[in-house]
Amino acid sequence: MDRPQSDSLPQDLSEALKEATKEVHAQAENAEFMRNFQRGQVTRKGFKLVMASLYHVYVALEEEIERNKDNPVFAPLYFPEELHRRAALEQDMAFWYGPSWQEAVPYTAATRRYVDRLQQVGRREPELLVAHAYTRYLGDLSGGQVLKKIAQKALDLPSSGEGLAFFTFPNIDSATKFKQLYRSRMNTLEMTPEVRQRVTEEAKTAFLLNIQLFEELQELLKQDPEDQHPSQAAGLRHRASSRLQDSIPAEQPRGTPLLSSLSQTPLIRWLLTLSVVVATVAMGFYAL
Ligand code: HEM
Repeated sequence: MDRPQSDSLPQDLSEALKEATKEVHAQAENAEFMRNFQRGQVTRKGFKLVMASLYHVYVALEEEIERNKDNPVFAPLYFPEELHRRAALEQDMAFWYGPSWQEAVPYTAATRRYVDRLQQVGRREPELLVAHAYTRYLGDLSGGQVLKKIAQKALDLPSSGEGLAFFTFPNIDSATKFKQLYRSRMNTLEMTPEVRQRVTEEAKTAFLLNIQLFEELQELLKQDPEDQHPSQAAGLRHRASSRLQDSIPAEQPRGTPLLSSLSQTPLIRWLLTLSVVVATVAMGFYAL
């Protein structure tokens, strides 16, 4: 059983990290972008943006992991076959942004801040890299699986998993067992109480960098009139045939009042006008 140490964190690093990030985890789940996502309110545009950010984040994270793969402060957590997401994200980028995705993928300010921090950690404070790997990979193996199903349904994506390679870990049979292995490896890392404290702080920073990314994304979506419709899914659901176009004509939004859609038919519009005229004349007679 874990007993709190003098620094009041549980003894095992895995427990300490879980405990220390409980609050920021709830904050991340409750970020507007994530809340909407969980309700199935995710648009093609929002999804593309978040995936683009993740692409940059994982390129940086995995570059720093490669740099430190033999460094004892990280080596036990080196699982490239099982975890690394760069290749999967490249496939997803090609799906969402087309063959010239490398020029088309956006790189937002909050993404850049996250990347900067990863590079700084990997190069100057590699003992903190565990905090970033934990935050992303254990998250992807947990809530990430739920998000995959939601995106698949909301964006009407093929069940083959195209566009969602990021969420699939083909070399992990059981996410639960792998997470256990990862936690036990984290617990083998030797670190002083001072470093442990910095690692848990860094994990909170990692969550905050993710939250800032979601907040920025939500702002970008708010500025986009196409993304304002409450029935956003309707105009943004597209099958593979049109998946690489960004400016797709909006379909009739769901829940459009019946009358307004009927009034687009000339004969019915004429009949409606006639009944209004008849009713007005009848009321005139009645008033006399
Ligand atoms: C809609 C948003 C999210 C949902 C629904 C969600 C859900 C979950 C769930 C169900 C677990 C498993 C808890 C357990 O096994 O005890 C989990 C764990 C985790 N999540 Fe999330 N999550 C979300 C967002 C995030 C974000 C944005 C991050 C960080 C970028 C994150 C990082 C983690 C981590 C690191 C764990 C592992 C905790 C541990 O066992 O130490 N999650 N999440």
